Amino acid sequence: MSLPETIKIIVFDAYGTLFNVRSIEDGLQSHFGDRAERISSIWRQKQLEYTWLRTLMNKYEPFSEVTKEALEFACKHENITLSSEIRNDLLNRYFELSVFEEVPDLLAELSQKYLLAILSNANLLMLKRAVAYNRLDSYFEAVLSADSVGLFKPRPEVYEIATRHFGMVKGEIAFVSSNTWDVAGAAAYGLYAIRLKRGEKPMDTMGFESSLEIDHLSLLI
Ligand code: LAC
Repeated sequence: MSLPETIKIIVFDAYGTLFNVRSIEDGLQSHFGDRAERISSIWRQKQLEYTWLRTLMNKYEPFSEVTKEALEFACKHENITLSSEIRNDLLNRYFELSVFEEVPDLLAELSQKYLLAILSNANLLMLKRAVAYNRLDSYFEAVLSADSVGLFKPRPEVYEIATRHFGMVKGEIAFVSSNTWDVAGAAAYGLYAIRLKRGEKPMDTMGFESSLEIDHLSLLI
């Protein structure tokens, strides 16, 4: 499947798209046993909600802080006392999430054809550590963070970081995400939005459609 000829750059969302947030589950299980899966779901959902709430309230805090607050909520919700040791252990693991297994080889191939970048709500410290941990540094021309504008996706100013950084028009940039709200945000901003389907979640029904839907990254080659 080839992308339109205008596309020069492929920009990836980080969590859920390249990095598997479920790879933290071992850590959760060792601390919380059979409640790990539930805590993991609440943690991720609250983390997203807090980014949106903070953006609406004009009360930006970096993603690492939002991630900590969301973990605290998830434990409170489940009536678990979160010690600072466990909290720090889990947050450290978040810095070292694994990538989905097909990602390194496909980035190697795609980087022969396109400039590649990451654009994430996570702050640079988190992103750079996860990229280095998975030895992906050499594939990315840029690792871009919402932190530089103090707002979170899906605000248009965040997608604009990519057009500004590369000095490109919107039609020259493809944005790949497995998060439906992020695909909608990129499409609303005007990028060539590619939805990578991981799991069964349907696309949001707000009228902001992806330009392309794929169920495996290899379809971009
Ligand atoms: C990201 C998360 C929110 O921006 O998926 O990487």
